[in-house]
Amino acid sequence: MLQTSYIEISRKAYRNNLRYLKKIIGRDVVFSSVIKGNAYGHGVENIIPLAEESGIHHFSVFSACEAYKALEILSPRSQLMIMGFLDDEQIEWAIENDIAFFVFDMERLRKAVETAKILRKRARIHIEVETGFNRTGFEYGSIDTLVALLKQYHDHYVFQGLCTHYAGAESIANYLRIKNQITKFRQFNRYFLRHDLRPEFCHTACSAAALTYPNTIMNLVRFGIAQYGFWPSPETHMFRFRKDSSDANPLRRMLSWKSRVMVVKNVEAGSFVGYGSSFLANKKIRIAIIPVGYANGFSRALSNTGRVLIRGRRVPVIGTVTMNTMTVNVTDIPNVERGDEVVMIGRQNRMSISIASFCEMSEQLNYQLLTRLPADIPRYVVP
Ligand SMILES: Cc1ncc(COP(=O)(O)O)c(C=O)c1O
Repeated sequence: MLQTSYIEISRKAYRNNLRYLKKIIGRDVVFSSVIKGNAYGHGVENIIPLAEESGIHHFSVFSACEAYKALEILSPRSQLMIMGFLDDEQIEWAIENDIAFFVFDMERLRKAVETAKILRKRARIHIEVETGFNRTGFEYGSIDTLVALLKQYHDHYVFQGLCTHYAGAESIANYLRIKNQITKFRQFNRYFLRHDLRPEFCHTACSAAALTYPNTIMNLVRFGIAQYGFWPSPETHMFRFRKDSSDANPLRRMLSWKSRVMVVKNVEAGSFVGYGSSFLANKKIRIAIIPVGYANGFSRALSNTGRVLIRGRRVPVIGTVTMNTMTVNVTDIPNVERGDEVVMIGRQNRMSISIASFCEMSEQLNYQLLTRLPADIPRYVVP
């Protein structure tokens, strides 16, 4: 093993998640697999082929940089959509490569259609409208100018989508805000239709919206976190739990993160372990050093609080997590030795450490933890 840890991606779990989510949206709705943030830490090089073999041919990224990488892996049949950052210099590249992109201001719209005109190739645009998130999107007040421009340049683009993003569909506390966003989106759509501007796709739903507000599903859904087996929030899980009337969690986590024991040794009673004095051995203990630290994605906040699995048992992290190592207390586990498997996230025998518990311990969102798993940790697809 060259790297100090590795990540396993379960094909079976991914297929299970896709089956469940596809059933919710129905056969006629396009499933766009959101693969930004290195496919939420799972590795685009793994997720794109897995999604394609399950019949998914639409992918969403945030930036041109992510699109470059995705394009190297995508099969020619698949479509790519940039939902965020795309500098003027990359617009030509995007149009030439048939990459669709969100358009959320007049400057980008003008640049897109003018570039398309020069290239004699239509730009595939998704008009993003501001409905209440207050991030990107055309304001309703600018709709007349927008419609006029779209009509003027109608030969130079394909109106692929009309879209928006919700401000926190994973929490009931935002219910009114989401409801108002849906109403506002419909208002935009009606206006476009009245002016004979009919988008191929209307898309507003991310995972939480699709799972809890069925009327946000429309004809394309941008699924991020749920496809990877995570609930956007405990509330979303509870909502589905009651609706699906099944005790079993329909989503399966597909990522495990593992390493190996590097060193095992004894520490005498009265000695401190690691930097400083945050852990004092009050009796003779046996410790194992694991070659994974905060530079490898194991948060320093897990010092003296984290847990890992060794020989099917949960063992505590003691002392501070350093840049490249952590120390765990293996006193109660007989025969731990160098080379033993260590599970930071995932299952070992009958024990497991979930991302959720990991997040709780380090006070991170599952989204944040996943996307912070360093890209250089090797990832392997397992059956
Ligand atoms: C515009 C947009 N659509 C879809 C998603 C996917 O969201 P989720 O991972 O909650 O499904 C995101 C993620 O932040 C997003 O920014």
